[in-house]
Amino acid sequence: MSQPNGGTFDIVILGAGSGGYAAALRAAELNLSVALIDKAELGGTCLHRGCIPTKALLHAAEVAEQTRESEQFGVKAELVGIDMAGVNAYKDGVVARLYKGLQGLLKQDKITIVPGAGKLVAQDTVEVDGKRYTGRNVILATGSYSRSLPGLEVDGKRVITSEHALKLDRVPSSAIVLGGGVIGVEFASVWKAFGADVTILEALPRLVAAEDEEISKAVERAFRKRKINFKVGKPFEKVEHTANGVRATIAGGETVEAEVLLVAVGRGPTTADLGYEQQGITLDRGFVITNERLHTGVGNIYAVGDIVPGLQLAHRGFQQGIFVAEEIAGLRPAPIDEAGIPRVTYSDPEVASMGLTEAKAKEQYGADKISTYNYNLGGNGKSQILKTAGFIKLVRLNDGPVLGVHMVGARMSELVGEAQLIYNWEAFPEEVAQLIHAHPTQNEALGEAFLALAGKPLHAHS
Ligand code: NAI
Repeated sequence: MSQPNGGTFDIVILGAGSGGYAAALRAAELNLSVALIDKAELGGTCLHRGCIPTKALLHAAEVAEQTRESEQFGVKAELVGIDMAGVNAYKDGVVARLYKGLQGLLKQDKITIVPGAGKLVAQDTVEVDGKRYTGRNVILATGSYSRSLPGLEVDGKRVITSEHALKLDRVPSSAIVLGGGVIGVEFASVWKAFGADVTILEALPRLVAAEDEEISKAVERAFRKRKINFKVGKPFEKVEHTANGVRATIAGGETVEAEVLLVAVGRGPTTADLGYEQQGITLDRGFVITNERLHTGVGNIYAVGDIVPGLQLAHRGFQQGIFVAEEIAGLRPAPIDEAGIPRVTYSDPEVASMGLTEAKAKEQYGADKISTYNYNLGGNGKSQILKTAGFIKLVRLNDGPVLGVHMVGARMSELVGEAQLIYNWEAFPEEVAQLIHAHPTQNEALGEAFLALAGKPLHAHS
């Protein structure tokens, strides 16, 4: 018996997270009809369970630290405590406002919202609650979930993921953070600022191991100063329940006890049981394989966001969503340069980076072709006003463009936009050195770093 018809659209999009909703908005602008399907809230992980609520917690953490350190600015204040109900109300308020805005945008654009769990049942059809939605094109945008490790059972109480951590109604007295990647260092930063005793366990030899090695070392120095404990270079072995929490064991037998353990060992693609493979789509360890135009090679099916191998970042999802909508509309957009995607870790200190690390640049071009320059924020007026330490590291191809910009220190996330422009324009340091930066700003530090790299340092030694 044929299923009832939900309608035929230019595009049926499965998943309304950053990738899916960006595709929907751009497609609607291009006068394409769109059905946007999601079993949960529009906005996906980033808005409801990821970027936005986490960054709100990180901001509350910054306020707590600033209060503790207020004396150094001559301001007398005392941190009396953290009211998690108040912090959560602030966080949830931010999410609610953005959610309302997004709902309004989608409605205004006359996008057909289909609530419910969808499954690809034909190359042009997604079924939701027994109704079939047919698309001349289909975009898969089903996102990712928090991975765990074999034998490590997440119970949502003592062993938790970032999703549970965002909903905690108390500050844990102590926490083990399993994984010293982006999620790990961000939550370690929040909990420490809120007064918890935190230990990070990381299998690789350093924290934020995807970043330039010198940046990792700077984060580790800052964390040591903040008394955030971390043990690197030893994989996690097991976790047991204790009377009041958990005990984790790492290779070599060392143990750490705490009230909760946060599992932050990466995110896996949400692609199981959605009918993808049955329709002939190729998966590699669960990720959807596409060509550079994000086409799956099957029918008119495209994929965007965290299910496509590469950086699992909301802004990559947005860009891919826009790209596919334009591709379907026949605009032939230029393929996305994955190396040109900015990366930010919002811990204290923040890490922001673009392009190649020193090691990767040397591997790619040969060690003798690469120069680097480190500009210490000690020479930057605004950073001194903020009393932040850190540096900006530039990686360049000799007699060629800037290949990498790596920054560590307070508020470095705000500088990554300029770094991104410089990188994407394949600018030479000599060209960037001509740009005038307002004084005093932290942006000036980028300007100074480029002046120094171009051989004409102002407030720095080359
Ligand atoms: P991640 O890949 O950044 O870090 C996971 C860490 O866990 C790695 O350093 C890995 O070596 C470690 N690990 C894995 N197995 C281990 C074991 N057995 N014992 C000890 N350590 C082990 O993944 P994370 O932090 O979970 O984040 C997931 C994704 O979400 C990332 O792709 C990230 O880009 C994204 N995200 C981005 C944010 C941002 O842009 N600010 C914020 C939060 C997440």
